[in-house]
Amino acid sequence: MELALLSQTARALVADGKGILAADESTGTIKKRFDQIGVSSTVETRRDYRHLMFSAGGAASFISGVILFDETLRQQGPDGVPLVDVLNAAGMIPGIKVDTGAKPLALHPEETVTEGLDGLRERLDEYRSLGAKFTKWRAVYRIGKDMPSRACLAANAHALARYAALAQEAGLVPIVEPEVLMDGPHSIERCEEVTSDALHTTFAALAEQGVGFEGMLLKPNMVLSGTEASERAGVEQVAMRTLACLRRCVPAAVPGIVFLSGGQSSEEATMHLNAMNKLEGPKPWKLSFSYGRALQADALKAWGGDNGNLEAAQAVFLQRARANGLASLGTYA
Ligand code: 13P
Repeated sequence: MELALLSQTARALVADGKGILAADESTGTIKKRFDQIGVSSTVETRRDYRHLMFSAGGAASFISGVILFDETLRQQGPDGVPLVDVLNAAGMIPGIKVDTGAKPLALHPEETVTEGLDGLRERLDEYRSLGAKFTKWRAVYRIGKDMPSRACLAANAHALARYAALAQEAGLVPIVEPEVLMDGPHSIERCEEVTSDALHTTFAALAEQGVGFEGMLLKPNMVLSGTEASERAGVEQVAMRTLACLRRCVPAAVPGIVFLSGGQSSEEATMHLNAMNKLEGPKPWKLSFSYGRALQADALKAWGGDNGNLEAAQAVFLQRARANGLASLGTYA
């Protein structure tokens, strides 16, 4: 493993004032997003929409890298230029989602384990030859009565660690994403407890598999009240609890923590990141973003499936990217 090279890429992904665009929605998920704006999901509409974001002038000032779905990594823009080349020319690093989705966990109704390890070594080789420099794998934990179970925590941590080891062996930076879902009536304290548990289990498994912490990034949820909680914690509380939890669980050798947005509104996701970066006290890693919905929701609406709205949608996208770039420095107002 060439840890120094991996570390260089990982650090570039969390360069000052920059974060990651997660544009790796699977075909099923992007269809759901397009359904919301009444646009049919075809190879062409998916291409046009993603090309719109990747070619937005100046995006690279705030976006260090983009996580792609398999289809997009192989796709050409409307002008025939491969989308990977569009990203590289603009100065954004191409990455790829490599898990094959969260599947029902045996004997544990309502829980999932993320799959995709079979044949992964060969797929990683191909992704590297297609130009990917980093990868992502997402594990999902639901908060509920007796959930997440030990079985769910252990199975997902093991898979995350085996994935990360394979990615590093292939010379690709792994983004390790253990996501505790926001859904439910739980308190912020309960979210903190489960997030700590998920992170401890994940880092123990990563250490066991020999993953080099210097050459990876962590993509966690923020510590939040459940979406149906009677009292929801405010921005300062979210920032303080999230940072405290990360300080307890994430080794200082990890170069960056890039949050998922997970269903927060665009503005909430920006405010929370900004508040964390403004807090005093030790932060051994960069704190930035790897947002999907929180970067894209406004742009998707502005585009509405009509390429006549291209420039307006790009402007909206850049506005969100800039806001989060500032939040990663703690200077968003
Ligand atoms: P959201 O920011 O929409 O949660 O997406 C991030 C992501 O990559 C989920 O895997």
